[in-house]
Parts: sequence; structure tokens; C-alpha cells
Amino acid sequence: MSRETRFLNACRQKDVDKTPVWLMRQAGRYMPEYRKLRESYSLLELIKSPRLATEITMQPINAFELDAAIIFSDILPVLDGMGLELEFVKGDGPRFLKPIRTNTDIQALHEPPATEIMHFTLDAIRLVRQELNGLVPLIGFSGAPFTLASYAIEGESSRSFSRVKACLKDNEKGWHMLMEKLSRVITDYLKSQIESGAQAVQLFDSWVGTLTRDEFCTFALPYINSIITDVKDSYNDIPFIYFGTNTSPFLQDLRDTRADIIGIDWRIDISDAWSILGNDFCIQGNLDPKTLLTNSSEIERQTIKILEQTKMKKGFIFNLGHGIIKETPVQNVADLVKFVHDYGRSS
Ligand code: CP3
Repeated sequence: MSRETRFLNACRQKDVDKTPVWLMRQAGRYMPEYRKLRESYSLLELIKSPRLATEITMQPINAFELDAAIIFSDILPVLDGMGLELEFVKGDGPRFLKPIRTNTDIQALHEPPATEIMHFTLDAIRLVRQELNGLVPLIGFSGAPFTLASYAIEGESSRSFSRVKACLKDNEKGWHMLMEKLSRVITDYLKSQIESGAQAVQLFDSWVGTLTRDEFCTFALPYINSIITDVKDSYNDIPFIYFGTNTSPFLQDLRDTRADIIGIDWRIDISDAWSILGNDFCIQGNLDPKTLLTNSSEIERQTIKILEQTKMKKGFIFNLGHGIIKETPVQNVADLVKFVHDYGRSS
């Protein structure tokens, strides 16, 4: 079976010869090739150059037997395009110079088309498809509305989400106005990525687990649903992955979405997640990324646990439970990918 069909077959719950595997944040600082480029360019320069973004997207594909590529970009430049002015501060991560503080700020947010604000990533998608030439499929992505709204309101990575929580409590109207705007921009961005050649798409909802279940259903889920429905109505054949962390309490609610694949973190047993979601969904996950900092016997032990629970299932994609950690030894990644492929499965 070709590496291009393996991942897409699993997304469609068809037979696969081996378990497909790719890793969130598979391109990045744990790779010496990436660090070398970072000596000459900032992160945003790399993202905004279609040629360099293509080169970086290909780095893990050339280094490991991964079954999918993910376009090199980030979830935050979209917010820059809406007017929030993004910068990456060395050591501190992302920061917005004009975070949202009032409803006037929300009203002032631009809703430009992706072809205007994300043309560099759309161009990179076209270039990567040429470069891949059918070797493995290319995944496009966007931040999910809750996670993007959190960054827009907090202005940077946050632990407490105190501004977000205050907004949900005191300014419901403003929250919904912001989520509607973000959902329209995200939907257009995902559709544009598909038009440019993305063969599957993933929504990253890294921070949504800070919500209670009630809050999730009121303040986040309707927007996730509207994005997925809109994209699936136009591109029914393109697999749609929804990934969040700390989302175990919401899995039963995610059953109402039209996502094809649910990405889960390591905090829930994969077989439990599957029994909650039911067999209509594919699952992607869920090795704890910290495992890749240990040794081969621990990595194999944790990986076998996942593969044993999924080897009889159609529609399983091996991944980490969150992005790869920058201290991860490259050899551990190579060994993991090989181990997943060599481990026998029944479908
Ligand atoms: O997966 C891939 O290989 C594609 C590239 C990708 C990046 N960011 C590149 C990046 C993807 C899919 C993302 C998603 C992303 N970005 C998320 C969702 C996934 C997650 O990990 O939760 C989030 C929350 C962001 C926002 C972001 N970008 C943060 C908080 C940071 C700084 C912290 C960190 O991890 O360094 C970034 C920077 C970033 N995005 C880097 C890379 C390779 C490191 C930047 C560098 O080179 O210095």
C-alpha cells in the first residue's frame, strides 16, 4: 500500500496495511535542519516564505517514514491578519500588540479573505504538493475559534485564562460576536487551504480544556460545529480532524459534530475514548509527548499499549497526544515511527 493511501484510508475507515503515523509539530526545533534555518530567519520569516515553509514541511518527511505531511505555518498569523499585530518574543512565545479589550476592539476586527492574509501559506501548500508528488498526503490546519479567541483576549499564552473567563461571565454578547467573526475567517481559511491542495484539515483547539462541560457546549461547540459543517458541505471527501487537549469530558458532545477524526490527548485511555465516541469516528492519538524524552523500552511499552487497544479497529491514526517537545531526540522519533509500522494489526 502506498504511503499516500495509508493515512487517507484510515481517515475513511478503510483497510490499511500498517498503522499510519504522523506527529503534531513534526517540523520544528527538535530537528537540527530546522534549527539551522532559524539561525538565519525568524519564525515569521520562515512562515511567510513559501519556499522556506516548503523546505521545512519536507524536513520530517525526508527524515522519517511518516504517513502525512502538515503544512509549516502557525495558528496565530490569521489573528495578525485580522489586525491584532503578532510578534514572537524570544523565550516568551507569541504576543499580540493589540489584544482585544473591549467590544469596540471586536467590532474593529477585520475579516479579510485568506487569499489576502494567508497567501504565503496557501502558496506553500501548492509548492509542497508539487514537492511531495504523491509521496504522502498534505494536512492543512487552523486554530479552532476558542483557542484563537483566548490568544486574542489574553494577548499571549495564559495559564489562568482570567480575561477569557471574565468575558464569558460578563460579556456574553461580545464573546459570541468574536466567535462568529473568527468562525467565518477560519472557515474561509480552511476552504482556501483545500482549494490550494490540502488533502485533510485539522482544527487545533489546544486550550479549550480550560472550560467546564456546560461552558464548552455554550461557548465553543456551536462554532466548532458551524465550521465543520460548512467545510464538509463544500468538501465532503476531505477528512476533517478536530483535536483538543483536556477534552475527555466533552467527548460525548463531540459526537454531534461532523468531524471524521477526533484527536485526543494522553489523559484518556484510547479504548475509553472510542467507546464514548462510538465507531462512526476515527481516532488520532495519543502517546504522551514526554514519553519521547525517555528510552526505547519505555517508548515501546507505552506505544504497545496504544497499538494493542487499536489493532482490531478501522480508522486509527497514531500520533502524539500533543505537539512534539523541542528536547526530543531525533533517533527516538525515527524508532517510534518504525515501531508503529512494524507492529502487526488486524485490519
Ligand atoms: O506541526 C507542524 O509541524 C506544523 C507547524 C505548527 C507550528 N505551530 C509551528 C511552530 C503547528 C501545527 C503549530 C500549531 C500551534 N501554534 C498551536 C496548536 C498546537 C499546540 O501545540 O498546542 C499553538 C497553540 C501555537 C501557538 C504557538 N506557536 C506557540 C504557543 C508558540 C511558542 C511556544 C513554542 O512551542 O515554541 C509557537 C511557535 C512555533 N510554532 C514554533 C513552531 C515550529 C517554534 C518557533 C521557533 O522556531 O522558535
